Amino acid sequence: MDKNALLVEKKETILAGGGQKRIDKQHEAGKLTARERLALLFDEDTFVELDAFVKHRCTNFGMEKVDAPGEGVVTGYGYVDDRLVYAYAQDFTVIGGSLGEMHAAKIVKVMENAMKVGAPVVGLNDSGGARIQEGVDALSGYAKIFYANTMASGVVPQITAIMGPCAGGAVYSPALTDFVFMVDQTAKMFITGPQVIETVTGEKVSAEKLGGSMTHNSVSGVAHYHTQSDEEAIAEIRRLLSFLPSNNAQRAPMMDPGEVNDYLEHLDTFIPDSPNKPYDMLEVIRSLVDHGDFMEYQAHYAKNMITGFARMGGRSVGIIANQPKVLAGCLDVNASDKAARFIRTCDAFHVPLLNLVDVPGFLPGTNQEYMGIIRHGAKMLYAYSEATVPKVTLILRKAYGGAYIAMCNKELGADVVFAWPTAEIAVMGPQGAANIIFRKEIGEADDPVAERNERIEMYEREFATPYIAAERGYVDDVILPHSSRARLIDAFVMLDGKRESLPRKKHGNMPL
Ligand code: HXC
Repeated sequence: MDKNALLVEKKETILAGGGQKRIDKQHEAGKLTARERLALLFDEDTFVELDAFVKHRCTNFGMEKVDAPGEGVVTGYGYVDDRLVYAYAQDFTVIGGSLGEMHAAKIVKVMENAMKVGAPVVGLNDSGGARIQEGVDALSGYAKIFYANTMASGVVPQITAIMGPCAGGAVYSPALTDFVFMVDQTAKMFITGPQVIETVTGEKVSAEKLGGSMTHNSVSGVAHYHTQSDEEAIAEIRRLLSFLPSNNAQRAPMMDPGEVNDYLEHLDTFIPDSPNKPYDMLEVIRSLVDHGDFMEYQAHYAKNMITGFARMGGRSVGIIANQPKVLAGCLDVNASDKAARFIRTCDAFHVPLLNLVDVPGFLPGTNQEYMGIIRHGAKMLYAYSEATVPKVTLILRKAYGGAYIAMCNKELGADVVFAWPTAEIAVMGPQGAANIIFRKEIGEADDPVAERNERIEMYEREFATPYIAAERGYVDDVILPHSSRARLIDAFVMLDGKRESLPRKKHGNMPL
């Protein structure tokens, strides 16, 4: 056979993956194939495949007779909005996308190449896990991937999408990456599946409830983005990449913000009259950012804390905000973990931080104390303190006690702190404070209720304002709400050249 024709034939075999029958089965299951996914991920016709000829070397259980086109994973690079990105997509049509020695080697090569040239890595997971026939070689392959994930952490953004099964130790590669997407109904992640759980504990649970997308997005916090389809997951990955730099030595791309109205009149009357009345912080965020475009991170998890990416004046920023609508915006264990992880992700990739504060405190109760709110809350203090990116804080209403500090006050390293006239910066809320410091006066009064109300009012007048903090320089300026967008953008422009380094150390010891 002509040598060129032989090459064409070999490539055709590889492109066909596990064959039409298995491709049809994949489609029937509501999933795209690995190649279809990569075609959607990359700008048209920019994908360059690597290692298409790689073969497994397994001879156990008749595997020497098993042909596995592409070794069950398609790897390579291409361009997303004209920027270089490396990717791998596991091919479920080839031995269930199971992972053996050479499959793992292909993935590790992608990660090492991406680190060499400073490009993000996107992993599209759809696999039956360790290829059982390969035994310990498969485990070795996983370990090499975990090691590469860890080496790449903080060097290049790592994004994983779970688009099918991801079971056993296989879950730990996604867990080591910066961002995890899951697809509703088709994605399943668990250490031990429903059958094993039933055998060991007698507990009956469906695969979806145990490890489906909504479980990991809303309950466990393992996943960061819940999507309805492969197409949506891939479109959202492309969107996420636009907020990130290609590596830790670069900045995220600046976008032309076009025409945006900076005068936000409705914010002047946005904060409700009563301190106990909730409002939706997402509305404030959408008003402040370019074109209201906010890509929320962990939108379904710890909803008392809002995190996500947006642009302000064309510059990518990471937003951390209390949500007064949920648990009054209190900090709890999950909210602290969510915020701390997001802060560190932004700091690793030079995305400046905007902190929007309306926090009455840490959530009280035995449940939170027993779950270790002290340890988890400390993560926020640590993450903010060590973050060297520009940090800008805007206090909208409540900023009480330790939670005021944990939301990045001046001393924790905020470069600029603004407050609205409605800000209340104090050790605690007026009610609690009056009960403690005026206990004697209230107790001895003829009308304790009236006395108490009077003392609360007095405390509110004198302490629950932004002005004492501004007099000390803890707040740089008290600003009219309508000017917030313009003032924040100006602060980020001013901070553009910020350079800060931490004391020399091997690494810090963040509370985990
Ligand atoms: C070898 C596998 C495989 C595996 C699937 N296949 N998983 N081959 N090793 N781990 C093969 C099947 O034999 C089948 O081959 C093809 O892939 C498609 O699988 P089906 O079972 O037909 O598909 P489906 O019905 O959709 O079920 C998918 C599945 C199931 C739920 C993933 O295949 C399954 O339970 N697989 C085993 C999962 C598992 O226990 N993995 C090990 C986890 S432990 P044919 O030729 O018929 O098409 C682990 C440890 C990692 O991963 C440790 C790292 C530290």
